[in-house]
Amino acid sequence: MLVVATTGLAQTNVPVVQIHADKITAQMPPTFYGLMTEEINYSYEGGLYGELVRNRSFKADAIESPIKPTNYDPAKYYPVEIAVTNAPKFWSAVGRAKISLDTNVVLNAALNVSLKVELAGASKESPAGVANGGYWGIPVQPGTKYNLSFFARGENFNGDLTVSLQSADAKRVYAQAVVSGIRGDWKKFATTLTTGSDFTPSKENRLVISTTRDGTFFHHRGTIWLQEVSLMPPTFKNRPNGDRVDLSQLLDDLHPKFLRFPGGNYVEGDYFNERFNWKQMIGPPEQRPGHRSCWGYWSTDGFGLPDYLGWCQDLGMEPVLAVFAGYTLKHDCIAAGPELEPYVQEAIAEIEYVTGDASTQWGAQRIKDGYPNPFKLRYVEIGNEDFFDRTGSYDGRFAQFYDAIKAKYPQLRLIATTPVKSRTADLLDEHYYRSEPEMEAQAFMYDARDRSNPTKIFVGEWATRVGSPTPDMAGALGDAAWMCCLERNADIVMIHCYAPLFVNVSDVSNAARDARSMQWPSDLVGYDALGSYGSPSYYAQKIFSEHTGDEVLATDAQNLPVYSWIHSGRPRNGVTPPARTNEVKSVFYSATRDTARGKIIVKIVNRSDAPQSVQIQIGGVNSIAGEGLATVLKADNRDATNSLNDPKHIIPVTEEVSGLGANFTRDFAPCSITILELSAK
Ligand code: AHR
Repeated sequence: MLVVATTGLAQTNVPVVQIHADKITAQMPPTFYGLMTEEINYSYEGGLYGELVRNRSFKADAIESPIKPTNYDPAKYYPVEIAVTNAPKFWSAVGRAKISLDTNVVLNAALNVSLKVELAGASKESPAGVANGGYWGIPVQPGTKYNLSFFARGENFNGDLTVSLQSADAKRVYAQAVVSGIRGDWKKFATTLTTGSDFTPSKENRLVISTTRDGTFFHHRGTIWLQEVSLMPPTFKNRPNGDRVDLSQLLDDLHPKFLRFPGGNYVEGDYFNERFNWKQMIGPPEQRPGHRSCWGYWSTDGFGLPDYLGWCQDLGMEPVLAVFAGYTLKHDCIAAGPELEPYVQEAIAEIEYVTGDASTQWGAQRIKDGYPNPFKLRYVEIGNEDFFDRTGSYDGRFAQFYDAIKAKYPQLRLIATTPVKSRTADLLDEHYYRSEPEMEAQAFMYDARDRSNPTKIFVGEWATRVGSPTPDMAGALGDAAWMCCLERNADIVMIHCYAPLFVNVSDVSNAARDARSMQWPSDLVGYDALGSYGSPSYYAQKIFSEHTGDEVLATDAQNLPVYSWIHSGRPRNGVTPPARTNEVKSVFYSATRDTARGKIIVKIVNRSDAPQSVQIQIGGVNSIAGEGLATVLKADNRDATNSLNDPKHIIPVTEEVSGLGANFTRDFAPCSITILELSAK
């Protein structure tokens, strides 16, 4: 239980931040700010991935029985079971159609179920078919082309189908088209649905596929089977099988330099047959079987390995690839040795998929999947949070991966997920999910780190977890304090990324975990089917990454104000420690230089609820201009936040300011993050 005292300690002297502009402590790493991602909170399906149809392959209810590693062949695909007595989830019958899941008539082995639609009840007055309501709605925008496709076959059916985008109450049809030629064999059908211009965007809509009213003669009876029913809106940069435009744009605005994927827990899965099995997530989407994600819902894997790379390509990010390392969330594990080797080879092949050219097996496959150019890869992470592996097998597992990867790709820098002794990891991934006072209390921790350790740091997951579903201003203040720490210590912290990135806010508190749109509160970016917004933490990160600079300058500080943090710490073995009080600093800072622009960039965070004067002294320069720029993110109180209804309540404002110089005092607003750009000579 953590409690924050409301009053700060008396402050006698003005705090001073000294910047030694002639002392460079680090070159800012080129990929310092990045993104971390996994399928959680409907991040891709119902999120970034453009697909608008929910449960397009009808496997949402698939039963994937756990398989222990001793009985598991990683090269084999283990088909899921389908309870055909269940109603097809997220689909409903239209008119007098009868719909059911069918495992006898299937498109292929990967998608071993189809939607059977019996149309005997259809009439000219009452067409029959199926409807899908998307991920908490289907967004419809004016003047927009939607690509619809599906696989279908029929029996005793010789008519056409009408596909339409319509309001959920069926009163308004926004776009429709007719699809012909459904006969006895499976075939792919595709058409475009184009909306008119005269309506307000909405999400209370559905996609309907039904029999066609065609004049006087009606003969559309019989049965059809459907599979891989897809509706794609225009995607970011028009990439096929690509991403939602507004979310991609929000991320692009953060200027991320790398993408850590695919997890997080998602790389591990609960069981071996639920890990991120990349070989089953490549090729045409209709040949990807999908899998149950560790966050409790089905993933079609339409957003698979090539699609992460497509995202990197869209935003100019470098992949930071996490590979499955023989350990799962439910503690199944394969220790180092011959039985681990197939997984090591799987990782090596995955690296080849990302980086190989046309002469390599997996590089050629990536090219076939739509990405002709090899991706630049510098970092590979072995596993995720392997400190949970109490058997102590990680040291050996890491060594086996390390030796094999370095032998083939000596240039790669390998990241360990917990300290190892067997090899010298290039980087160690550290994760910090904290309350605001905890984050601020540790905002000087890396300044004290041993500089002689050859293993550098990757802060692969961090967040100040205040606010749900997205963080509020208190979260942004903790984050900014922490980012100051990361920047000051960029000689040892090479890269870092916030987590989780995304949350679908449509239904965050549903009692059923798989029905809930959120599995983890406090996420950087929120959205529903129609709209999206960045949290205050998003904007804190945006202004930091827009003002990185290329040299880190030495800093000192005196008289930093503190507040009292009364807390009982985290319970251990069911016992809550006695309450204690810590004095936590309430002003945070970092300084960098943008050499090309001749600017010194000073970041000051005032987490207190009162204004705060800070004296800034800059040595090692001839002069600092009196005028400069200030970018400020602030709020009236620390609970203030952004939301779908008020997406820009807290956003940064940049303005010209005066009164700057080599030694100046400035008042910083309550609950504020300020970035000063000073012109130095
Ligand atoms: O970010 C949410 C989860 O937190 C990640 O999947 C996992 O690595 C960590 O425990």
